[in-house]
Amino acid sequence: MPQYWIDRLSDEADLEGVLEVEAESFTNPWTRAMYSWELQNRSVCHIFVVRTEECRVAGFCAFWLVFDEVHINNVAMRPRFRAQGIGTALLRHVLAEARQLGARRATLEVRASNERARRLYERLGFYVAGVRRNYYTDPVEDALILWRDDHEVAG
Ligand SMILES: CC(C)(COP(=O)(O)OP(=O)(O)OC[C@H]1O[C@@H](n2cnc3c(N)ncnc32)[C@H](O)[C@@H]1OP(=O)(O)O)[C@@H](O)C(=O)NCCC(=O)NCCS
Repeated sequence: MPQYWIDRLSDEADLEGVLEVEAESFTNPWTRAMYSWELQNRSVCHIFVVRTEECRVAGFCAFWLVFDEVHINNVAMRPRFRAQGIGTALLRHVLAEARQLGARRATLEVRASNERARRLYERLGFYVAGVRRNYYTDPVEDALILWRDDHEVAG
């Protein structure tokens, strides 16, 4: 496994890296304009990046902190860095940081067919709380709404 560390997104080069990871990971990636909008609200919008010696942004997680709730908007690793435990470590880090900032619950949406992501979230104590029918496009698919309460053990 490569040596890696987790940082807050800090500059334009980091944002460039996030956009690349988006493009490598999603059929409907978030655009620069969407992130620029997010980044105007730094008290609510938080972005953490995973770095390695050879890769400035190997993965990232973007979330909102709204009162005591974490809303995880996006999480992705570049394909070559997947299946090495780093995505799990990134989410654990994000949940711990958010807790320090006062979060007590976390939520996110996931494609029903995204089994790898669903297993990851289950490992961290998320549970299915609802379904949004046909929420996603490209392809059209249901979103599962997951929640995690602070007392859940991150096993
Ligand atoms: C979902 C995602 C972020 C997970 O990141 P990741 O770094 O691959 O996650 P992990 O490596 O921690 O866990 C993934 C799997 O690798 C396994 N793994 C962890 N370390 C491993 C190792 N050293 N060797 C082999 N497998 C390993 C984990 O057990 C896990 O297995 P499972 O899928 O059977 O549960 C990543 O797959 C991704 O970017 N997907 C595309 C974007 C996406 O779908 N994002 C989620 C949107 S809601």
